[in-house]
Amino acid sequence: MEMNIKDALVNYHRQLFNPESIIIASPGRVNIIGEHTDYNNGLVLPYALDKHIYMSASLGDGQSLKVYSADQKRYVDFRDDQGMPSWSRYYIQAINYIEDNYGPCPPLEITMLSDLPIGAGISSSSALTCGVIYLIDHFMKLELTPDEMIKIATYTEHGIGLQGGAMDQSTILKARKDHAALMDFGLNTIEYIPLEMGGYDWWMVYTDVEHSLVDSEYNTRRKECETSVSLISEQFKEIEHLSQLIPSDLATIRLDDPLDRRTKFVVEENQRVRAVVDMLKHKEISSIGPLLNASHLGLSKEYEVSTNEVDWLIEQLQKCVAVCGARMIGGGFGGSILVLIEKDKEDEIHQVVDSYNRIYGKEAFAFNAHSGNALIEV
Ligand code: GLA
Repeated sequence: MEMNIKDALVNYHRQLFNPESIIIASPGRVNIIGEHTDYNNGLVLPYALDKHIYMSASLGDGQSLKVYSADQKRYVDFRDDQGMPSWSRYYIQAINYIEDNYGPCPPLEITMLSDLPIGAGISSSSALTCGVIYLIDHFMKLELTPDEMIKIATYTEHGIGLQGGAMDQSTILKARKDHAALMDFGLNTIEYIPLEMGGYDWWMVYTDVEHSLVDSEYNTRRKECETSVSLISEQFKEIEHLSQLIPSDLATIRLDDPLDRRTKFVVEENQRVRAVVDMLKHKEISSIGPLLNASHLGLSKEYEVSTNEVDWLIEQLQKCVAVCGARMIGGGFGGSILVLIEKDKEDEIHQVVDSYNRIYGKEAFAFNAHSGNALIEV
């Protein structure tokens, strides 16, 4: 599959641009558990998806950046500022940041081709942003470290309006195939946990519910967490972020609704990450299921980032005999669902997805969520 995409990408690039190119594969991100905890300096447990945005890049002889999206059959010369596609914002923000801090960026020619579903809550925008930064770094010979690239990518996305954490960019640049990465954003550490799944498998269901984090309440949630931190610091104990709390603190803290529910979710979600890591280490894979379900319940009722359709779909998936657990992943308000299921039993998922499509008039689909590498040159 990868070879076919790579060949197709090389062909597209040759037709338009200098054939002397480098090619990278920038992966999507799956998060097993630990949602909305990254910007609360807590724990997350993501892995890189074996689906990518492939980018081929060469030095151009013109004055400006030129990009061809083979998926959209769209050619963009960045000198024209009329009718730019929405993805061009990621290029512009990243380049502006790099030019402000490291000097002028040469005129690049880039072709993109992807097998990663776009806007599906599996970090296609971060895959793009990290890819752009990696390529600029290559041609400018900046030798940025992964941590510097993560910082620039996070800054780029903030510039576009999403006050996200650094989980997605960190996964894309630091993940290891067949491992989940336990990231602690308080301590700034990563531990790689082998994904030895025995008789189980990860599947993903794209819900076809429009997912636009920039326009969503994501930033509001982040603000609510910050407000909770100040109130807790005044009335209970001095903290800098919600992940410093432990579950027994919740009985003492008095916050109004919805801040109490937001705080409870973050504190308990961190605990769930710890529990899932233990289960992975002890190969108690099916026991992870109930924690995924609990995480989703929290996302829906406490953190309030789900939608009715997604809740319906998850409830049906959770009822399947071979399914151990299921939850929405990513920022929320649609996107994709992660399902833990017995191997070779995915027919059950497809049946649920078919009914969902019939009832809600959607075009949802399921795919095997194999783990892959961090961003690499291919
Ligand atoms: C989005 C953000 C991440 C993270 C998740 C929720 O994907 O980009 O930083 O906050 O939402 O866990």
